Amino acid sequence: MRYDVIVLGSGIAGLTFALEAAAHKKVLVLCKAALQETNTAYAQGGIAAVLGTIDSFEQHVQDTLEAGAGLCDETAVQFMVEQAPESIKWLQQQQVKFDSGADETIALGLEGGHSQHRIVHVKDHTGLSIQQALSRAALQHPNITVFEYHLGLDLLTQTIADEKVCCGVQVLDLKTGNYKTIFANATVLATGGSGQVFCHTTNPTIATGDGLAMAARAGAKIRNMEFFQFHPTALYDPTSEDTFLISEALRGAGAELVLPAGDTFMHRYHPLGSLAPRDVVARAVYEQMQLHNSPCLFLDARHLGKALLQQKFPSIYNRCQTIAIDPTIDLIPVVPAAHYQCGGIQTDLQGQTTIAGLYAIGEVACTGVHGANRLASNSLLEGVVFARSAAAHFQTIVQPKCFADFDSIVYHRLNEEQDAAINHLKSELQLLLWRQAGIVRTPEGLAGALDKLEVLRYKLERLHTFSVAWQEVQNLLTVAELILVAAKHRKKSVGGHFVQSTQALAAVC
Ligand code: FAD
Ligand code: SIN
Repeated sequence: MRYDVIVLGSGIAGLTFALEAAAHKKVLVLCKAALQETNTAYAQGGIAAVLGTIDSFEQHVQDTLEAGAGLCDETAVQFMVEQAPESIKWLQQQQVKFDSGADETIALGLEGGHSQHRIVHVKDHTGLSIQQALSRAALQHPNITVFEYHLGLDLLTQTIADEKVCCGVQVLDLKTGNYKTIFANATVLATGGSGQVFCHTTNPTIATGDGLAMAARAGAKIRNMEFFQFHPTALYDPTSEDTFLISEALRGAGAELVLPAGDTFMHRYHPLGSLAPRDVVARAVYEQMQLHNSPCLFLDARHLGKALLQQKFPSIYNRCQTIAIDPTIDLIPVVPAAHYQCGGIQTDLQGQTTIAGLYAIGEVACTGVHGANRLASNSLLEGVVFARSAAAHFQTIVQPKCFADFDSIVYHRLNEEQDAAINHLKSELQLLLWRQAGIVRTPEGLAGALDKLEVLRYKLERLHTFSVAWQEVQNLLTVAELILVAAKHRKKSVGGHFVQSTQALAAVC
């Protein structure tokens, strides 16, 4: 099979690229689950963009740099912020109906770390509305072919004239069990994040870092993997397997974080209180949980009233009701959870990786805009801005073609008999990362986790089998190693990487 371009991933980044590139080229979109099962579809708060009259590009840039703790690439931030209003317009052209205010202009919400109201949203289900609109547009487009339930396994690469070139991807059709080798002039990784490497995460089960691991195996440069973002307010619901997010937009509307006895505490940590940058809030919540020996803290949204909660936050309001929490009467129990991979495959402003013919866009990429900690609602924005930029670049260049045989392609026999053991290994890995590379890390914990990782890798290999679960755990092990090695090398705390001596940590616990 040969296409002009293969896009792995059907979230905001993949579908934006596909729709832009399809104006002139034949595009194949592959996704390992249903088209709409993406991180994008779970996004709540919205997309940041300077649209208000008292806002400015300078302020959005400044807020992004501050959240990123001085480690953002300022050129990339400037580029993203300036492209934001145009990208919102583009999404509207794809039929995303953002909420508007009384005067018909787009309504702008507030989230942590933002000095202005600039969050464009659709109630508290912005991601789902975007996902639905882009999916509809992609399915209707004559130049876009979509293969759902196709798992990308490995990139096909060759060295041509001393340059590593990506020529396509090896794929497993999950419905038939057949392998496919698909060639293209360009390959785009838009496979999202890797929150599943931790046992508590807001990310859906698809987020196993596959694209990142594929790129790492192919030799692409990866960076900033020590910076994993933890969201401070996931719903505390021990009865559920999924972790439901309580959007930061609720705090933007006035909800306050409180201790078990109901007192506020965030102003002791940051002048912005409950709306401080996310890394600060997540650490504060974690610390207060330890100090109070409590399994959760609480969000107080009672004063916002039923009408506002039902109208602006219907998903949150309804989900709380399912566990007998009425946010107008009760405090909402919350805990931190792994949320966003700030690092990833290194790219330039056009989404180009260090391998020719290979682009990376969205959460799998590291464009440099997030630095050590992502500013709220800059992720959907990064996805759409850099996907459009990559598509524009792809139209203008002639990609190197490669046709040789790929001896390295291996066709494993699928065998799910060992999946129970593999899932057990996955749980061990997730717990290890949560405990030893989570919100607070110690040098000893990181070193010990790397040793334990070797054991887990050995156990996985010793199973001598191949299945989807096996492939995903193999990828998660690669993600874990990238996180642990990067974290071990960064001795000082910054942004999402917080490292403490074992004694200091013991004093808090
Ligand atoms: P995704 O949307 O995650 O899509 C990944 C795609 O890759 C899927 O189609 C998947 O099937 C496919 N895929 C993965 N591996 C393979 C493989 N091996 N083979 C084939 N296909 C594969 N950000 C914001 O800016 N604002 C928000 O309000 C916000 N809220 C959030 C709320 C939640 C609960 C979560 C989890 C995240 C939130 N984020 C938010 C972050 C944001 O949603 C994500 O960073 C963003 O949607 C990622 O988009 P993406 O296109 O890169 O990948
Ligand atoms: C949220 O709605 O709190 C998530 C926003 C984000 O991840 O940017």
